[in-house]
Amino acid sequence: MEVTRIYLIGYMGCGKSYWGKRLADSLSFDFIDLDNLIEEREGMTIPDIFSQFGETSFRKREQKALLSTKELKRPTIISTGGGAPCFHNNMSVMNTLGQTLFIEASPLVLKDNILKSDDERPIVKEVFDSELETYIANHLNSRLPFYQQAQFKCNVDGLKLEDLKQLFQ
Ligand code: S3P
Repeated sequence: MEVTRIYLIGYMGCGKSYWGKRLADSLSFDFIDLDNLIEEREGMTIPDIFSQFGETSFRKREQKALLSTKELKRPTIISTGGGAPCFHNNMSVMNTLGQTLFIEASPLVLKDNILKSDDERPIVKEVFDSELETYIANHLNSRLPFYQQAQFKCNVDGLKLEDLKQLFQ
């Protein structure tokens, strides 16, 4: 039988891991955070991979981790890094292996969430807080053509678990 895989995609700070865990719990699915999977496999943190090997190398490791989700044997929600859909043929891999959900959020919400979080994010590390919202707006725009290839879309504003669950039942 086909294993159900649901990939959550969207910009940094949109809540992929938060909603992914909650959705997995409520559907009794497993949950995987692709960034955590990369860190476990490589024995290094994401910021260390970026600083020691650069982004191109990180994207190869990310693609490899994503392809490994093909081997999953149980229904699983997979939250992916914000850039994952935008490199290699990752978006079509996800759409082939399972279902995809884009969690949309405004640049203001994304900025606030990124600033609140303790996660170190190499992509925005050098951006001044005062310039972060404009940076996100431009960067998000360049990523939208990929995110919009998702089969489902929701907005994080006022999002309820019930709405998410209904998409997949
Ligand atoms: C990235 C997002 C990060 C992580 C890496 C690169 C990106 O994941 O994969 O730092 O390019 O947007 P989150 O979206 O979970 O922060």
